[in-house]
Amino acid sequence: MALTVLKLGGSLANNPEKLRFLMEKLVELSSQYLLLIVPGGGEFADTVRSLDTRFNLSPKAAHRMAILAMDQYGLLLADLSPKTTVVRTFEDTKISLKLSNLSIFLPSSIMFSEDPLENSWNITSDSISLYIAHRLGAQQVLLITDVDGVFESDPKQQYGAKLIDKISANQLSKLSVRTSVDAAFSGLLMKWPTVCYVVNGLFPERIETILAGKKTLSTLITNQ
Ligand SMILES: Nc1ncnc2c1ncn2[C@@H]1O[C@H](COP(=O)(O)OP(=O)(O)O)[C@@H](O)[C@H]1O
Ligand SMILES: [Mg+2]
Repeated sequence: MALTVLKLGGSLANNPEKLRFLMEKLVELSSQYLLLIVPGGGEFADTVRSLDTRFNLSPKAAHRMAILAMDQYGLLLADLSPKTTVVRTFEDTKISLKLSNLSIFLPSSIMFSEDPLENSWNITSDSISLYIAHRLGAQQVLLITDVDGVFESDPKQQYGAKLIDKISANQLSKLSVRTSVDAAFSGLLMKWPTVCYVVNGLFPERIETILAGKKTLSTLITNQ
């Protein structure tokens, strides 16, 4: 069965009830689909950003501290849902997925030992989830966030901002605006072709629809 990597954005932690509901829904879906959660960094990573500004940390230290932020959010997600299994290696991930467990990948162990990506703030959990998907041969990556997808401008700043329903990695790399996806992501997607959707986790039924192979409100990022 094809594996789907779900990157759960830290932004979802602003809405505890909705995040609990999403986790329940994902546990339910894991009996039907192979699902691996890669946590975002959220508030934990924001703390690292602010300490980086204050202390002008080395890129390596800031990168590693931000990856530990993902581990922390992963532990939070696991605590919300006792029916999940925390994994730290690709071998354990494969074993856990075989048992149909909703698995949560804590990336620090692999990322510290393999160090495969540029150590900079261009790389966040979006790119790291893509790397993990690539290593596991996943069929698709869903970047699950708190808005409906990638917009032409920040939907929280600009009322009526237009949702982009489909964009190529190449076009995304040329967008002049900041999006919800990190700066390195589109380049890596061209290198490691994977189906990628940006979808709103406040509406878990949309995730279910994508897993069922049907169309829903989201942004599809294609890999050319
Ligand atoms: N062009 C854009 N399209 C979509 N979201 C955007 C855009 N520009 C800024 N954002 C903001 O990005 C946020 C999601 O990204 P981010 O803060 O990294 O959260 P996450 O924790 O989900 O990765 C949204 O809440 C939205 O306000
Ligand atoms: Mg983000």
